[in-house]
Formats: sequence, C-alpha cells, structure tokens
Amino acid sequence: MAIESDKDDLFHEPRPAIGDFRFDRSVATVFDDMVTRSVPYYVEIQRMLVELVRDFALPDSAVYDLGCSTGTTFINLHPHLDPRIRFVGVDNSAEMLEKCRAKFKEHGVNRPFELQCRDLNDGIVVEDASVAMLILTLQFIRPLRRDRLIADIYKGLRPQGCLLVVEKVLGEDSLFNRLFIKYYYDMKRRNGYSESEISQKREALENVLIPYKLLENRELLLATGFRHVDVFFKWYNFCGLVAVK
Ligand SMILES: C[S@@+](CC[C@H](N)C(=O)[O-])C[C@H]1O[C@@H](n2cnc3c(N)ncnc32)[C@H](O)[C@@H]1O
Repeated sequence: MAIESDKDDLFHEPRPAIGDFRFDRSVATVFDDMVTRSVPYYVEIQRMLVELVRDFALPDSAVYDLGCSTGTTFINLHPHLDPRIRFVGVDNSAEMLEKCRAKFKEHGVNRPFELQCRDLNDGIVVEDASVAMLILTLQFIRPLRRDRLIADIYKGLRPQGCLLVVEKVLGEDSLFNRLFIKYYYDMKRRNGYSESEISQKREALENVLIPYKLLENRELLLATGFRHVDVFFKWYNFCGLVAVK
C-alpha cells in the first residue's frame, strides 16, 4: 500500500494549549502517514479487509465505508471486486472526502460511487448493502449514539450481510490496559514519534476517542441482532471484529 501523504509532524512543536483533535485539512494532508505509523499492522488490517470483503460483497449491492477518510480501503478493494458493486463512503470531514475523491481519480476507481458528508452521530440510512465497514471510526461516535448507528447499519444490510469493525479498545481489566497502552506507545516511538508528539496527541484525543472493551463491542453487535460475531484481528489495544446478519 503506497503512502500518499505528507509526513505527520502535526504535534512536533510544543503547543501552549491542546484543543480537541479534529479531522480538518491539516490532518487530512498527513492522514495516510499518520494512520500507518499510529495503527499497529494497519497495512495487514487493510489486506485482511480485502480478503473478508471479497467473500461477502455481492454484485448489484453496495459496500459502505463509514468514516472512509481518504478512501484507502476502497482503493485497496477496487481491483478485487465485481464492477457492479457500488461504493458508498461516509465521513463528516469535507477535507477527508476531498482527498478521497482525488485519490479515487488517481487510482482509476471507475465503478459507481457516492461520497456523503454526514455526521454518523445522527445515524445513517444504509441501502441494500452486502458489506458495511466501521474502520477506526466507531470509537469517535458518542457512546450514547453508538447503539442507534449499529442498528441503522444492521437494518440496511442484506441477510447474510457483513459488518467489519476495527477499533482501539480498552483492556478487559486495568492491569492489561496499562500494559497494552505502554506497548502501544513503544510502537509509536519505534515508528518515529517523539515523547512530546505522543503526549500532545494523547491529550488532543482524550475527549474525542472513547474506546470500549472488545467484549463490549461484541455485545453491542450481538444485542443489535447480528447472528455471528468473531475477532479477526487483535494486537494489544486494537481489535477487528466481523459480524454477520
Ligand atoms: C481514524 S479515521 C478512519 C480511518 C479509515 N477508515 C481507514 O481505514 O484508513 C476516522 C474517520 O472517521 C471520521 N469521523 C469521525 N467522527 C465522525 C462522525 N461523527 N461522523 C462521520 N465521520 C466521522 C473522521 O473524519 C475520520 O476520517
């Protein structure tokens, strides 16, 4: 997977005050580098998503990516899916969608697609989908709005349709949680982030990224009605879940 953005040095300079993290133009510009250096096994997760989506996506149906950012997942999927499959990307950052549109053009994504600028806190209308994805996005939705969003997705999925969720998670108890966070920051150091970049980003995300435990996410999916739920990826405080209607 090519990295198609400037280097992420957003938190390099010490800031006098740290505001809440926002997916604005400055983030969109460096996002592909940021996500690759901040999410463990991001490239492998993307490869696994292609593998999974390929087995669930049906011709003449839609594949939704909710929180699609710069469109990396769709671009990775495009060569592997039937051209009759429609892409629907949703994000509430106009800057991310602008970047996504430019990348689609560059990569020749010529199938029917739609990019919607919407706030997923308000729920979503999903129509005739065989696959929906929430890749590192549910964690940014207000906890009180998550049940409704998952229910909306469930409603719009075809029978046997699949929802893929990747999330940062809390450890199941505080001991593991502490250790997993320590190993996560070690990974960020290995990927070239400094102490002040790590701590300023942590502060910026504090009120914005609200992780659940893996089992809480699993329960949310089962309680909504998904019949089969399994973990397809786990690395300390990150996990991927696959749920089938
Ligand atoms: C970590 S990124 C997702 C990464 C992307 N799915 C990928 O695999 O590279 C989270 C995305 O969710 C979007 N987002 C956050 N809150 C949102 C909301 N309330 N409604 C819609 N999109 C939201 C952000 O703008 C951002 O593009």
